[in-house]
Amino acid sequence: MKVLIVFDTKHGNTQKVAELIADGIKSAERNEIKVLNVKDVDLNEEQTYDLVVIGSPNHVGSHIKSIKKFINNLPSANLKFDSFAVFDTYMGNDFEKVVKKMERQLDEKIPNSTKTFPGLSIKVGGMKGPIVEEDLVKCKEYGTKLAKKE
Ligand SMILES: Cc1cc2nc3c(=O)[nH]c(=O)nc-3n(C[C@H](O)[C@H](O)[C@H](O)COP(=O)(O)O)c2cc1C
Repeated sequence: MKVLIVFDTKHGNTQKVAELIADGIKSAERNEIKVLNVKDVDLNEEQTYDLVVIGSPNHVGSHIKSIKKFINNLPSANLKFDSFAVFDTYMGNDFEKVVKKMERQLDEKIPNSTKTFPGLSIKVGGMKGPIVEEDLVKCKEYGTKLAKKE
């Protein structure tokens, strides 16, 4: 399976989630995985991925601008993918709020063409983190599940 994990982050927590998901995917089977900050993704590159995983911190109840832009640009990109999954990091009571918003945006932009796996919402203890203990373990587990396409 060829996987691209794209994230943005202000304080590093969303990057850490991305890396832990990658560890989980790697531990499950032989996979080719790239973990990239959204600013380093070249949408003009001709690439096809089996799965693209997109992660964003919750900023005022929504995903960060760079990730919105990334999703908006996907329909015209040379980068293609068969399925997607999204994850967010949040601080308060916004469990899955941004996950749902990203899924809605993807659905609008790329209707009927892709399979979506259930998203992951990870809680941080404050603006700068850290990821709360009980959620930390969920990240790698999620990667393992994605690898099995559950
Ligand atoms: C400008 C800003 C707005 C935020 N708004 C929310 C919010 O509405 N709800 C929430 O749960 N967390 C909110 N947060 C907390 C972020 O979700 C938290 O800082 C982030 O998950 C940390 O991830 P990062 O280290 O990858 O930046 C906000 C953070 C910032 C910087």
